[in-house]
Amino acid sequence: MNTIEVVLDRAKELNRKGDLNRDLEVLLCHCINKSRAWLYSHSEYIVTDFQVEKFFDLVLKRIRGIPVAYLIGRREFWSLELEVNESTLIPRPETELLVQWALDLNLPENSRVLDLGTGSGAIALALAFERPDWEVLAVDCCGSALSVAKENAMKLQLDSVSFLESNWYESLTKTTYWDLVISNPPYVDNKARIPNDLYFEPATALYSSNSGLSDLTKVIFESKDYLKSSGFLILEHGFDQGRDVRKTLETAGYFGIETKIDLAGLERATGGRNVE
Ligand SMILES: C[S@@+](CC[C@H](N)C(=O)[O-])C[C@H]1O[C@@H](n2cnc3c(N)ncnc32)[C@H](O)[C@@H]1O
Repeated sequence: MNTIEVVLDRAKELNRKGDLNRDLEVLLCHCINKSRAWLYSHSEYIVTDFQVEKFFDLVLKRIRGIPVAYLIGRREFWSLELEVNESTLIPRPETELLVQWALDLNLPENSRVLDLGTGSGAIALALAFERPDWEVLAVDCCGSALSVAKENAMKLQLDSVSFLESNWYESLTKTTYWDLVISNPPYVDNKARIPNDLYFEPATALYSSNSGLSDLTKVIFESKDYLKSSGFLILEHGFDQGRDVRKTLETAGYFGIETKIDLAGLERATGGRNVE
């Protein structure tokens, strides 16, 4: 009999290292459309042949390295359930630091916020969820990522966010309009060996030239023409890029430059304010 217990045990045998046990449970929940809490209290529940087939197809893909978020098509970010696919980065918990920082600025009602490189819409949608009074624009150069972000906005009914396909600022009107520009741009060194856990995510979302600093530098210099006087720029970066980002912000003429540490104790986000 294909009970939950039997099916999970068979899947765990395929994953000899035992490092994917949690993911296997998530995949089974996805196939039978139940929560993990339900799974634990129904080990004798019979899984249909169709569900078993679908489950083992996903198990083999997971063992090959495909992230569980792509297999089930979603990831939670800032308590919002976001649709993701191979054209979007899988939102990371570290990025919630940027959202928290933006909220802590206590910007006034009707502030204008630009999320550069929105991907699944994670940052823009979390901000719109918390501050529906803000005007949020989410930009990405990848049309298929933007479609996912739009779909997420629609499902979550976050209609204060608009979307624009653009290569950074290229399609935006050049005016000092924004109170806050927030961005998690690609910052992984494009010359470095691709770590296994990034293998399935889109290269345009991850890699940048000049030791991973090219896009960060571009966004820092270009933002100056679009931020209001004293407007804020907040950027996510690699754990070892804080010093370079602070230096670039300084060179570009920002003030009030600050770096925030993530939950792992690593420098993860740096920001500053445009000239007054
Ligand atoms: C690291 S991902 C961040 C995605 C999302 N903001 C998040 O935090 O999960 C970087 C995003 O920047 C976008 N991007 C890369 N180069 C870009 C460019 N030149 N102009 C606009 N967006 C770009 C990628 O398509 C990707 O969605």
